[in-house]
Amino acid sequence: MSADLPGHVAIIMDGNGRWARRRMLPRLEGHRQGAKAVRRAVEFSRRAGIGVLTLYAFSTENWQRPKSEVSGLMKLLSQFIDSDLDEIHEHNIKIRTIGEVKRLPAAVVAKLDVAKAKTAHNTAMILNIALSYGGRKDILNAAVKLSRALKSGDIEEEDVTEEVLGQFLDTRDLPDPDLLIRTGGEVRISNFLLWQIAYAELYFTDVLWPDFDDDAFRDAIEAFRSRQRRFGKISEQIEEGKMTP
Ligand code: FPP
Repeated sequence: MSADLPGHVAIIMDGNGRWARRRMLPRLEGHRQGAKAVRRAVEFSRRAGIGVLTLYAFSTENWQRPKSEVSGLMKLLSQFIDSDLDEIHEHNIKIRTIGEVKRLPAAVVAKLDVAKAKTAHNTAMILNIALSYGGRKDILNAAVKLSRALKSGDIEEEDVTEEVLGQFLDTRDLPDPDLLIRTGGEVRISNFLLWQIAYAELYFTDVLWPDFDDDAFRDAIEAFRSRQRRFGKISEQIEEGKMTP
């Protein structure tokens, strides 16, 4: 694996609705094409040697969308597991989730449980799907768990560090994202991994999610690499004492 490849890439997959509207198609068709882009991105990441791919598939705010759209998205997720689980497993990819997955329909939760159990010991890559996820809720839940641990005496106040709080987040066993990509032209974080992206490189592209192909992914990785290279140069100069403060 290349040294300047991001180990963890997180993606806000935006623009499915607009992709459909531009073609006078129902929004759900945009999501259907979005699911194809998910497959492509997973395969690209695996081939590139990215260790963790986190996809924002459904936010806590997305529950407010029309019922038909919510159920359409749940159906697509379910179909994705049905059609792709075997290949994901063959490719040694581990599926995990973050978010309040229990709020999803029971049948989808059951399928996700099967997918997670089947792929639990896979080691090539982690596909982390954010479902009913909100960054603030993640931090709030962690704060509640931490305060319980303090109350019960499991943790002493002087031992509370950022790492300790991080252990109560949904992402406890994952490295922080190195690169956050948002498609669809908006320049917002939209309550995604708020705590975890503290040091991530942010990359925004106008490409709508259904159009996000290997070339678009490569562009994002290239932008990340060029930023890393620039950063590398400055730190070398600092070490060599060439930089004036
Ligand atoms: C944002 O587009 C996208 C979503 C809310 C859902 C993302 C879901 C998928 C890509 C498909 C299913 C997922 C998996 C894991 C198989 P938008 O509807 O907000 O687009 P708009 O801003 O153009 O309206």
